[in-house]
Amino acid sequence: MTACQYKPLLLCAIFLTAITGLFAQPVTIAIETRDHALLMQTDKDDHLWTIYFGKRLNNVAEYIATPSLDHMSISDAGTYNGAYTPAGTWSFSEPALQLTHADGNPSLDLKYISHQTTKETDEISLTVIKLQDPVYALTVDLYYKTWNKENVIEQWTEISNNEKGNVVLQKYASANLYFTKKDFYLTSFQGEYLKEMQPQEEHLTQGIKTIESKLGTRAMLLGTPNFILSFGAPAKENSGNVVLGQLAWSSNYKLDFEIDSYKNLRFIAGINPYASAYTLSPGKHFKTPSLIYSVSANGTGQASRQLQSWARKYRVLDGEGSRLTLLNNWEATYFDFDEPKLTALFRDASNLGVDMFLLDDGWFGNKYPRNDDHAGLGDWQENVKKLPHGIGYLVKQAKEAGVKFGIWIEPEMVNPKSELYEKHLDWVIRQPARPEKYYRNQLVLDLSNPEVQDFVFGIVDGLFTKNPELAFIKWDCNAVIYNAYSAWLNKNKLPQTHLYVDYVKGLYSVLQRIRTKYPKVPMMLCSGGGGRGDYELLKYFTEFWPSDDTEPVERIFLQWNYSYFFPSITMDCHVTDWGKQPIKFRVDVASMGKLGFDIVAGKLSKDDLLFCQQAIKNYNSFKDLVWHGTQYRLASPYENPFASMAYVNEDKSRAIVFNYLHSNRFMHTGTERPVILNGLDAEKKYRIRELNIYPGTSSVIDSSIVYTGDFLMKAGFNPDLNGNRTSVLLEINEVK
Ligand code: GLA
Repeated sequence: MTACQYKPLLLCAIFLTAITGLFAQPVTIAIETRDHALLMQTDKDDHLWTIYFGKRLNNVAEYIATPSLDHMSISDAGTYNGAYTPAGTWSFSEPALQLTHADGNPSLDLKYISHQTTKETDEISLTVIKLQDPVYALTVDLYYKTWNKENVIEQWTEISNNEKGNVVLQKYASANLYFTKKDFYLTSFQGEYLKEMQPQEEHLTQGIKTIESKLGTRAMLLGTPNFILSFGAPAKENSGNVVLGQLAWSSNYKLDFEIDSYKNLRFIAGINPYASAYTLSPGKHFKTPSLIYSVSANGTGQASRQLQSWARKYRVLDGEGSRLTLLNNWEATYFDFDEPKLTALFRDASNLGVDMFLLDDGWFGNKYPRNDDHAGLGDWQENVKKLPHGIGYLVKQAKEAGVKFGIWIEPEMVNPKSELYEKHLDWVIRQPARPEKYYRNQLVLDLSNPEVQDFVFGIVDGLFTKNPELAFIKWDCNAVIYNAYSAWLNKNKLPQTHLYVDYVKGLYSVLQRIRTKYPKVPMMLCSGGGGRGDYELLKYFTEFWPSDDTEPVERIFLQWNYSYFFPSITMDCHVTDWGKQPIKFRVDVASMGKLGFDIVAGKLSKDDLLFCQQAIKNYNSFKDLVWHGTQYRLASPYENPFASMAYVNEDKSRAIVFNYLHSNRFMHTGTERPVILNGLDAEKKYRIRELNIYPGTSSVIDSSIVYTGDFLMKAGFNPDLNGNRTSVLLEINEVK
C-alpha cells in the first residue's frame, strides 16, 4: 500500500510528485520559498543528496539534465552531501542517524521511496520525503515546512520502527544540510549567568565545530542553539548570503558544522546524543525537534526581520497580540514582604501607570518558609505569616488599586528543605547512592514521571481555579540537572538514557494541558535569566526573560544580540536600579522591548517619577511599533560608541528610533556622523520629534523641519548624542 491510499485521491493526483521506480530519471525535490531554494536529488541507487542551496531558480527541471556542478566523487570515501546521512554502511561522514536494529545489527541505509508536497495556504507548504532502509522495516520521514514570504524553513524528522523488536536510536538529528559556497563564517552565542548571548564570529576551518549543551534543564546557560551562518564573507547587516536560525529544543542540543575535504560545509543539528540513546518499540515513531532558519541574500537585517515576522505570525503564543506593562517586586523587596508592603506596591504600580503588578519569589512554604533561596521550593501554598489572607486577597487588592495581578512560580524544581522533597523523594532527579549536588540550592523534579507532570499542571491549575482573575504567570527554571537519574524510569524498566528527552516531552505535555485549559493567559518564560528562550517553548509562552542582568549599557548589547532571533514583543525588559545610568537611559533601553519596572517606585524623586509616568504614556503610544513593527538595526554598538535601532510601521508612515551612547568618554564620543535610517518610504515626507524628555530639560531636535524618506535613508539624521544626551528617543511621523 502506498502513502497515496491514505490520502484523498484528488490530493494524491495533485501532490504526489514522484514514486521511486516509475522514473528512470533522478528525482529532484525542491524546497522553495519566495527567494530561496534547497534542492535534493536521487542517484541511480535511490540515495538522496543535497545538490543546491541558494537563490530560487526559474526552472528547477534544469537540474535533472545538469551534470554535477560540484566536483565531488560520491563513489569514494568522501561522501558528504547526503540529505540525511545514515551510519554503518556506505558513509564515513558524521551521521544524521545512527541506530541499532531489533536484531542487534548496527548498519543503516536509507533510500528514497516517495515525496509529497501539500499546501496549507498560499504561503505555507509542507514537503515530506520518505526514506526507507532496503533491508530493515525502518522508515525515516524528512519534513520541510516553508513560509514563502518570510523565507523561513522548519525541518524535522520522524523515525518509524516497523521491525519486530526494539530499535535503539543512538543519534537522531533533526536536519542535515550541505552548503557548497566558498568560505563559511559562523556566529555562535555563548553565555553564563548575567552574561547571556555573547556573540563570536569565526571563519570555519577544516574539521567539526560543535555547539552543544549537556545541562538538561536551563540548557542555554552556557551557550545557545542559535546560529548565524554567512557565506563568502563575515555576516553583514544589509548584504550577503546568510542563514540564521535555531534548534528549537529546550534541553541538550548539538549543532555540528563540518568543513569537509572539499571545503564545503556540512551542518547537522539535533538533540545531543550524549547519554540519550532512545529505545523505540515496534510500531512507534520518534519525532525530532525542529531546526528553524531564515535565509537571506541581503544580510542579517532581512534574515532577522523575516524570522521575527514569522515568529509573531505563526509561532509565539499571541505573537500579534498585546502585552501587559508591569511592576515586579523582585528587586524592590526580594523575599522580604508582607501584605501591607505589597498593597503599597500595588498603589505604586497604579501611580506609575503600568497594567499589572507581578509578585515574585518568596510567597510560599510554611514548614520551610521561602525566606531565601535555600528552602520552600516545591511547597506551593501561601506562606501564612507573609500572606495570611492568601493570593485571592492580593488579586482583589490589586484590582482595587487599578492593576492586574501576576505571580512567579518555579514548578519544575524543589529545595531539599521542603515538604515536597520529604514526601516525594522519588520525584527528584538524583543518584540514590551519591551525594546530592545543588544548583542554587535546589534540584530538578523528574518530568518524565506522569505523576510529576500532574503535580506541575496542578500548581498552575490550582492557582487559576482559586484565582480566576490571575492575569500572568512568570515560570522560572533555575537549576541544571546534576546526577541525571530517574527513579520512575527505573521502576518502569525503561532506560535511563530516556531521561533528558522524556523530561522535555513531559514539560511540553504539561504546557499543552495548561494551554488547552487556559489558552490566552500571558506567561513569561524565565530561567534565571536567559537559560531558556526557544521556539518550541514559545509556542506556550507570550514572552521570555533574556537575563537577570538589567544594567542598561549591557542590555543594549544583550537586546541587540537577541534581536537577531526574537521579535521585541517577546523580550521582557525591566527598569531596575542596576548600574549608574540615569532613569531616562534605563527607561529608554527597557522601552525597546516589553516594558516593565523592578524598582521601589515609591522612592523615586519627584522628577524621576514624573519622567516615568510620562515615559509609560509615551510607551503606550508607540508600543504598537515596538511590538508589531518592522525592526531595523541601524548602528551596531560593536562598531560604534553608540547604538541605534528603529521600528517602522507597516505603511511606513511612522517610526520610532532608539539611540544610546554606550561608551561615554570625555569629549571623545557622540554621534559625530549621522545615523542612516532604513525602512522608510523614499517618497514620503517626515517630521522628527524627540520623546521621553526629562523634566526641566529640552530637546535640541528641531521638529519643524520636513525631510524626505529618501534623504533620511541616504544622508541620514543626527540624533545629537553626546555626554549630556546619552539616550535619545525619536519619533518619525509622515507629513501629508
Ligand atoms: C531568577 C529570576 C529572577 C527572579 C529570581 C527569584 O533569578 O531570573 O528574575 O525571579 O529567580 O528567585
